[in-house]
Amino acid sequence: MATVVEFSRQSEVAELSSEYRIASPVIGFDRARELVAEYGSPLLVFSHAQVRRNFEAMRNALPGVEFFYAAKSNPCYPILSTLAEAGCSVDVCSWGEMKAALDAGFTPDRMIHTHPCKTVSNLLDCYKAGLRWFTIDNKCEAEKIAAHTPDVNILCRLAMSSQSSAINLSAKFGCSEQDAVGIMLHAKSQGLAVKGISFHVGSQCRSPDDFHVALMRARRVWDRAVDAGIPLEVLDFGGGIPAPYRHDAVLTLDAYCQSLSQALEATFGDLNIRIIAEPGRGMSADTGTLVTSVLGKSVRSGLTWYIIDEGVYGSFSGQVYDHVEFPLLAENADERTVSPCVVAGPTCDSSDVVCRDQQLPDLDVGELLLVPTMGSYTNASACPFNGLPVARIIGVD
Ligand SMILES: Cc1ncc(COP(=O)(O)O)c(C=O)c1O
Repeated sequence: MATVVEFSRQSEVAELSSEYRIASPVIGFDRARELVAEYGSPLLVFSHAQVRRNFEAMRNALPGVEFFYAAKSNPCYPILSTLAEAGCSVDVCSWGEMKAALDAGFTPDRMIHTHPCKTVSNLLDCYKAGLRWFTIDNKCEAEKIAAHTPDVNILCRLAMSSQSSAINLSAKFGCSEQDAVGIMLHAKSQGLAVKGISFHVGSQCRSPDDFHVALMRARRVWDRAVDAGIPLEVLDFGGGIPAPYRHDAVLTLDAYCQSLSQALEATFGDLNIRIIAEPGRGMSADTGTLVTSVLGKSVRSGLTWYIIDEGVYGSFSGQVYDHVEFPLLAENADERTVSPCVVAGPTCDSSDVVCRDQQLPDLDVGELLLVPTMGSYTNASACPFNGLPVARIIGVD
C-alpha cells in the first residue's frame, strides 16, 4: 500500500527494506563545484547512466511491455537522446515535443500522440511529420481527426483515478467506462481505425495495487468493445510510476514493476495483444539533480532567510504545478548544527519561496545546495520570469 515517509526518516526505511528507494543526488558536492566552475549556477545535471538504468529496470521487470517515455515530464536532450539510443519509444502531446524527440533521434514510428483534445495545427504538424497513433476521449475529437487525418490509429482514453496517486490526471481528460464503447463506435463510423484503449491511474501513484484495480476496469471496457465489434489490439496503461521525494520513499522500480507485471498477467494475460506504457516521472525524475547557490542571506524577525539562484519560476515550478516537495541537501549537513530557515528563489515575487520548514546549517553566500529528484516536471514548466534565465541543462555519464 501507499508508503509516505518523512525525508529525515527515509534512510532508516531504506535500511529496513531494500525494496524502497529515497531521493538521492546523481552527483556529489565535489563534482557539483567542478561543473559550476565550468558552466555556472544554477545547473540541472542529468545522468545518462541513471536514465539507462531506469529503462533497463522497467524492461526487465515488465517483459513484453513497450515503453513510450512521456516527454512531457522532461523533454530535455540528455534524457531523450539516451532513451532514443537505448531503444525506447516516446509519447508526445504537441509538435514542440515531437520536434524535440525527432532532434534527439526518435523516428515517428516510435511515437504516440497522447493529447486527447488537440488543436488542428498540432494534429496536422505531427501527422505531416509521420506520426500515426493518436488518442481521443470524445466524439468531437474523433470527427476532427476523421476530417483532417483519417488514416491514423486511435486509442480511446478512459478516465481512471486511484487512491494513492498525488495527481489525478482524469480530472480533465478520459471518458467514463459507460461512454467508452459509444465513443469508439462513433470513431469507427467516421472511418477511423480504433485499435485500443488507454488510461492513466494518476501521477506519482504510490501503490502498484491501484494499477490492478484500474486494469480490471479497463478489461471490462475492453471486453464490451470487442463484443460490440471493435477488434482491439493495444492496451496502453499510461504513466504513474512514482519517484522518491522529500516526503516519499517509494518502492524500487524492480519491486514496483514486478507487482505491476503480476496485475497485467491477472487481467490481460489471456490475450495476445500489444501492451504499452507511457512512464514519465518513473523514467526521468531521479535522473536529475539541481545544483543551486546561495546568492544572499538576511535575518528577518530572528529567522534566517537564504536567497538562492533558483526558485518556483524555475526548476522548483514542480512545487507549484506538480505538488511535490524536494529535499535541499547541504554539504556535510550531518556534521553541522542545523536550524530553521526560509529558502527563497531569486525573483522579486514574494511567493517565490522554496521552503519554510527544512532545517539547514548556517550557509555561506556562494555555498552550493544539491536538490535530488529534479528530473520531472521541473525545467519542463520553468519560465524566465523577471528576465532571469532558466537553469542550464547538462548531461553527465
Ligand atoms: C497521457 C499521459 N501519459 C503519461 C504521462 C506521464 O505520467 P507520469 O509522469 O505520472 O508517469 C502523463 C502525465 O501527465 C500523461 O498525461
